[in-house]
Amino acid sequence: MPETSCQKLAGQVAIISGGSGAIGQATALLFAHEGAKVAIHFSGLTEASLKNATDVSNKLKALGGESIPLRANISNYNEVKSLVDKVVETWSKVNIIVCLGGLPSSVRFWNEDPLELSDEDLLSAIKVDFLGSYHFVRAAKDYMKANHCGKIVFISSTPTIYGEEAGYRYSLAKDLNRLTVKSLAPKLIREYGIYLNAIAPGTVGTKSNRLNYSDEQWKDLIQAIPLGKAGEADDIAKVALFLSSHDSDFIVGQTIVVDGGEVRL
Ligand SMILES: NC(=O)c1ccc[n+]([C@@H]2O[C@H](COP(=O)([O-])OP(=O)(O)OC[C@H]3O[C@@H](n4cnc5c(N)ncnc54)[C@H](OP(=O)(O)O)[C@@H]3O)[C@@H](O)[C@H]2O)c1
Repeated sequence: MPETSCQKLAGQVAIISGGSGAIGQATALLFAHEGAKVAIHFSGLTEASLKNATDVSNKLKALGGESIPLRANISNYNEVKSLVDKVVETWSKVNIIVCLGGLPSSVRFWNEDPLELSDEDLLSAIKVDFLGSYHFVRAAKDYMKANHCGKIVFISSTPTIYGEEAGYRYSLAKDLNRLTVKSLAPKLIREYGIYLNAIAPGTVGTKSNRLNYSDEQWKDLIQAIPLGKAGEADDIAKVALFLSSHDSDFIVGQTIVVDGGEVRL
């Protein structure tokens, strides 16, 4: 998309971790529409992964934007560092990172007994959802400092706020993200000029989330939402844009709930 002065991210360089996923694709499109150059991260762990990332990257380019798909296993720091280095090599900087990478949801994980999890089970989501976000902060902080400004958005989830025994391994990792935002945001803003905030979505009707529920269970979930409907990927992307743009320049270390009114702080 050719730059115009009223775009919110004109001249910015963004990495969307989990850019091959549903919320990631919506975020990438919105950011490109607002003038950012966008690196689309994908895992390469599934057959669809590369195709999804390449498709969205090509879509952005067809619309006149700049985009590259980049693979990394985000559990591995060196792979994340290489990805961030590649983005800086390509576009000379990185200003924005939205960390959406998360262990694929599954009905099995959601329904497992939280008191019968092995150490490996407990660490599985932590390695992707938490370490996969933390690694981006570590890998990008000096580049962002050199640039005098950075915006990083983590993804948490509303069960971390109200407590939920189902999907315990998932909530555990998402809660570490929320804690990390509270703990690291002051140091990051003071010493690096980096804003760290998070989004806690409630029920969003993406393909991977919808798979966890029968039609009946889904109906029950929707009934519990005051707004009377599940969120869409775009609802999360719009808040990611807010937290990545100058519109949120007085917001530091917060987790913003985006759930149609179920959890009220
Ligand atoms: N949908 C919801 O209701 C909801 C609610 C709260 C929070 N969230 C969180 O929001 C994020 C996006 O959700 P979504 O519904 O868009 O999920 P999604 O479509 O399943 O996307 C998940 C993303 O994580 C990436 N990923 C998984 N394992 C990875 C690994 N080891 N290394 C690198 N990347 C990895 C996937 O990459 P590949 O596809 O390339 O493998 C994909 O891009 C997730 O973190 C999810 O937990 C979602």
